[in-house]
Amino acid sequence: MNPRIIVAITGASGAIYGAVLVAELLQRPIEVHLIISDYGHKVMAHELGISGPILPFLQSEFGLVPHEFSVLKEYLPDNLFAPPASGSFRHSGMVIAPCSMKTLAAIAAGLADNLIVRSADVCLKEKRPLILLPRETPLSTIHLENMLKVARAGAVLHPPVPAFYHRPESVRDIVNATVGRVLDHLGISHHLAAEWNGT
Ligand SMILES: Cc1cc2nc3c(=O)[nH]c(=O)nc-3n(C[C@H](O)[C@H](O)[C@H](O)COP(=O)(O)O)c2cc1C
Repeated sequence: MNPRIIVAITGASGAIYGAVLVAELLQRPIEVHLIISDYGHKVMAHELGISGPILPFLQSEFGLVPHEFSVLKEYLPDNLFAPPASGSFRHSGMVIAPCSMKTLAAIAAGLADNLIVRSADVCLKEKRPLILLPRETPLSTIHLENMLKVARAGAVLHPPVPAFYHRPESVRDIVNATVGRVLDHLGISHHLAAEWNGT
């Protein structure tokens, strides 16, 4: 069975992180199970100009050529009957990129009333990788406490904060570096960002 990864895109700024992640995963023999929140769609339309399905956009704008054995399955966020809602659905991990403070708060509270939060909740209870790219600034104590709560429950908090020691020359370089680190966490090899070799 090909690896399955759940990807959620919520309504925080930085839709490009989710889009680049999905494009990277689809270049491999991986099943991507995608959930985009209502505000995820709206912010994606605003920031990236996506108006229809994501796959044609990734093909035309990012030059994505999907791997012949890749699969993209997309679910509506209100569909709690979808496979990722169940702990019996085996997968290799979930990434929420970007993750809004609202979705973070719902995960921290265990308020699983949509498929994104329910899938994250399932990851935590089943001890499967859950990687969040929370995006907000500045951070209130509520945001910080919620991050601490989900980190203690087992999630990896990976705020999309750029590093400059690899000398990025474009927004895409910055995004690639973060997405590369996310792939590292999932154990997926990539060429998005070079490993630091100390020089
Ligand atoms: C253009 C735009 C940018 C936003 N950026 C952020 C952000 O960076 N972080 C955040 O937590 N919320 C942000 N929001 C607010 C969220 O979209 C809002 O809280 C929404 O309810 C999140 O719902 P969701 O998590 O179900 O997508 C933004 C909203 C808009 C319209």
